[in-house]
Amino acid sequence: MKIIIAENEQRFDEIAAWEIIGQIMTKKDSLIGLSTGQTTMGMHQITSEIYKLHPFDTSRVKFFNVDELTNLPRTYEGSCYAMIRKQLCDNLNVPDERFLMPLTESDDFEKECRLFEERISENGGADLQILGIGWNGHIGINQPGTPFGSNTWVSPMDNIFEARVRKETGVADDYELGGLTLGIKTIMKSRKIILAAKGSKKAEIIRKALEGPVTEDIPASILQLHPNCQVLLDREAAAHLSGERG
Ligand code: GLP
Repeated sequence: MKIIIAENEQRFDEIAAWEIIGQIMTKKDSLIGLSTGQTTMGMHQITSEIYKLHPFDTSRVKFFNVDELTNLPRTYEGSCYAMIRKQLCDNLNVPDERFLMPLTESDDFEKECRLFEERISENGGADLQILGIGWNGHIGINQPGTPFGSNTWVSPMDNIFEARVRKETGVADDYELGGLTLGIKTIMKSRKIILAAKGSKKAEIIRKALEGPVTEDIPASILQLHPNCQVLLDREAAAHLSGERG
């Protein structure tokens, strides 16, 4: 795994933004998987700013987000659809036909999961997948214990995560929430993965995921086995890595 340690937040966001832009410029019809969260907002903003200043060709690029909340309206500002639409797709003029998201409301989420997975493979599979990491090592919404062989599915939310989502999104308590997420097996099929983590709160889980054993207890540890995974960290998130890396 190639580990890049950015000297500050601005550099972190710029490095990631240029990875996204570089992917689009080298392969105009790229399929790029994104992630929501605090870690990725800055890279979306910088990608959008660069596009505004120096428009590059986005007429064929396709995006999706690695996960989506279920049982809330898609238009709700806390849905991953709404966040990525606002943070990136709207700014880069990417219409819904090229934003391959699952529905947030359905009577049949198993079918939605299957369709999401099929849409990704029919479009050639992800050229680039950007991932954040949860406090417990989750990727997408694959919590500890998720089998490495998992396909796209609706994951139950753990209490801490659910409370955080409710707080961040303002979703009312009477909405039952779930997390439709690409499975770990599906994520691993991406041709390139960038795992991004910022801040001291991520330092210990980053150490475990990168330097500990590959275990389903820490979903992100599977990325050690991916042939083309880069890890982008700031100094705080890298602080617990051994030797010359940290
Ligand atoms: C949630 C999202 C993940 C994201 C993670 C990290 O779990 N479903 O896709 O990677 O949060 O979020 P943050 O960057 O805010 O720490």
